[in-house]
Amino acid sequence: MRSLTSSFLRVIRTSIALCFLSVAAISALAQYSAPKAQGEWWKHTVIYEIYPRSFQDSNGDGIGDLNGITSRLDYLKSLGIGAIWLTPIYPSPNVDFGYDISNYTAIDPMFGTMADFDHLVAEAHKRGIRILMDYVINHTSDQNQWFLQSRSSRTNSKRDWYIWRDGKGETATSKGQPPNNWQSWFGGSAWQWDPKTRQYYYHYFYVQQPDLNWRNPEVRKAMYGVLDFWMKHGVAGFRIDAVSRLFEDPQMRDDPYLPGHNAYGDRNIQHKYTDDQPGVHEVLKEVRKVIDKYPGNPVLVTEADEPNVAALTKMYGDGDEVQLPMDFQIADVNKLSAPRFRKLFHEIENNTAHGQPEYFFSNHDQPRQWDRYGDGKHNDEIAKLMAVLELATRGTPQMYYGEEIGMRTTPPARKEDVRDPIGIKGWPKEKGRDGERTPMQWDATKMAGFTTSGKSWLPIPPSSKTYNVAVESKDPNSILNTYKRLLALRQSDPALRDGTQINVDNSNPDVYSFIRQIPDRTILVALNMSGRPHTLSYNLGAHHVNGTHLRVLYSSQSPQPDSVPLRQVVLQPFAALVAVVE
Ligand code: NOJ
Repeated sequence: MRSLTSSFLRVIRTSIALCFLSVAAISALAQYSAPKAQGEWWKHTVIYEIYPRSFQDSNGDGIGDLNGITSRLDYLKSLGIGAIWLTPIYPSPNVDFGYDISNYTAIDPMFGTMADFDHLVAEAHKRGIRILMDYVINHTSDQNQWFLQSRSSRTNSKRDWYIWRDGKGETATSKGQPPNNWQSWFGGSAWQWDPKTRQYYYHYFYVQQPDLNWRNPEVRKAMYGVLDFWMKHGVAGFRIDAVSRLFEDPQMRDDPYLPGHNAYGDRNIQHKYTDDQPGVHEVLKEVRKVIDKYPGNPVLVTEADEPNVAALTKMYGDGDEVQLPMDFQIADVNKLSAPRFRKLFHEIENNTAHGQPEYFFSNHDQPRQWDRYGDGKHNDEIAKLMAVLELATRGTPQMYYGEEIGMRTTPPARKEDVRDPIGIKGWPKEKGRDGERTPMQWDATKMAGFTTSGKSWLPIPPSSKTYNVAVESKDPNSILNTYKRLLALRQSDPALRDGTQINVDNSNPDVYSFIRQIPDRTILVALNMSGRPHTLSYNLGAHHVNGTHLRVLYSSQSPQPDSVPLRQVVLQPFAALVAVVE
């Protein structure tokens, strides 16, 4: 009832909003009309993160680009994903590889043109695939016109668009000390002295990424204009970067120190006064209102590395903030652990906001799951197990390019080869993020089908010889074909699409089991997260399930059995099973 009322209200809201959109905007929207099935499409889609520099090069410069992505849309359609999240493609000096934006409403020529972008959106829509943009909300590049103006004088009209403060103990000849002890996530003080106007500016990330002042209404207006711009180009929503860093303590209190030092040699610190400060949720509500003016039920995904489920739950607001806050609690489990996953899935599945969870295990900031969860011997089996965990759960899955072929983390071997500045700064403790950003492995040729150039911006990993799309397409048991099967199953099975998710067999130390249930249909998912075989006897009576057998939909066992007795389920090491109870 509640959801019917809210969809009705949404339709009314959208219709009213459409009345106010300009004729030009409406014709632009019509031109880029989104895929048909609407409603809460983001509950049933699978998001695929593309790091554009590394997906497909179309012009032979060794760097991936938009036309390259367009040329691979048929592959993505056949894989079975429904939305692409593009990490930043805007003009940027690329200190943080696009997360330092110098112009929010243009395309970096390295990736192509606006016409290429529009073409990508249109071609994606033809295949039922939506495009999500990265919305880097916390900071700009220091080369952004806004910041260049802001730093030009203390009286410039954009001075207050960023966070400027006097140093401590500053004199006419000395810059004094930074205003407080706040630290950059990427090492060192979060304050940078600017000699021209003799003040410090604040940067949560690199020195070249000054933080915007979200307390300034003009900043909000400009940043909401960015959302309008891309919505009119047909995007289906945004992934919001670093949202919990938006505000800082107005009293500028020092952060507390923690024991030890980080990879950059700084004292460890708790970002108590620079993370999750009041104000974030008000902004999220405003952002949601901006995008809700557009048809197609646009979605907001947040990078929300929240400390616990309560903080994560706040991201949903009253259904008026983010639909899909990424679950970092689960992504950060970092080892195969049935009890850990059982606890965390239970917590988020039962979140008090009844929000839709968003699950992922790899992205462009953390080592890939193939080796993070792999034990060094059974990595392929474990990769398939993780695929089941990601795709058979109820939340919206978010995949990272190459995960479906078992790409591994390939960090640089020498400091002089590192491209990511944090790897240069933190070497050898912190090798940076190059290892998870290597080119997509399309085939077994020298450049893996990524580029026609003899060079790529990051080297082609040696594993591309055997782990690639061409080779794996031919093997029915490959990681790629496992993903395809599971993606198709997720789309077609009503219990996997819409069923509740409830943990069962709650005390097993090695096997994580849960059911997905709709009236008259129960699916059991069992994942042996250990190197030991297990024989399980399920009693699902408490869940009003009376069956005696399991009809197998997916089993990692080869050959796959058709049917298994519910009271005697044999799971080999790292085996996974998805089956209907009958
Ligand atoms: C999170 C992004 O995912 C990461 O790649 C980037 O370095 C920081 N935000 C700063 O924008």
